[in-house]
Amino acid sequence: MAKKNILVLHGPNLNLHGQREPEIYGSLTLDEIDQALAERALKLGILIECFQSNHEGVLVDHIQMAIKSYDAILINPAAFSHYSYALRDALSATGLPLVEVHLSNVFAREPFRHHSVITEVANGMICGLGLQSYLLGLEALVKVLEKQQV
Ligand code: DQA
Repeated sequence: MAKKNILVLHGPNLNLHGQREPEIYGSLTLDEIDQALAERALKLGILIECFQSNHEGVLVDHIQMAIKSYDAILINPAAFSHYSYALRDALSATGLPLVEVHLSNVFAREPFRHHSVITEVANGMICGLGLQSYLLGLEALVKVLEKQQV
């Protein structure tokens, strides 16, 4: 059976990881996060592709392309989580399993971060665990995909 292929998307400002508010987001760079995800993917026997953009439309284009090429999506929508109906609609339209992740505990921060318009169309959301949010999110998606096969 062909290996499952998961698209990992990072939203705006996440390219600044490592230098951006390290007391909130930690000191890992985005490359280091992607590297850790790639290592976990290898162990899990799946393929991943990581992509970051600061632009809503570019992310929407990528999500639309995912329908044909990927089995699931792992996303940190960053600030778009809190207001992007365009991203939400695109993710929902794919019909693919979806897990939303955040490095920080968004519920322990400013009130505007307490609501995500993405979570409502996701299988689940993991936040507050730094790199572990991403790694657990990837593992959760693999479990969701395994269930689909029974
Ligand atoms: C974030 C949380 C968002 O509120 C914020 O806008 C980000 C990063 C996180 O990973 O903790 O850019 O998604």
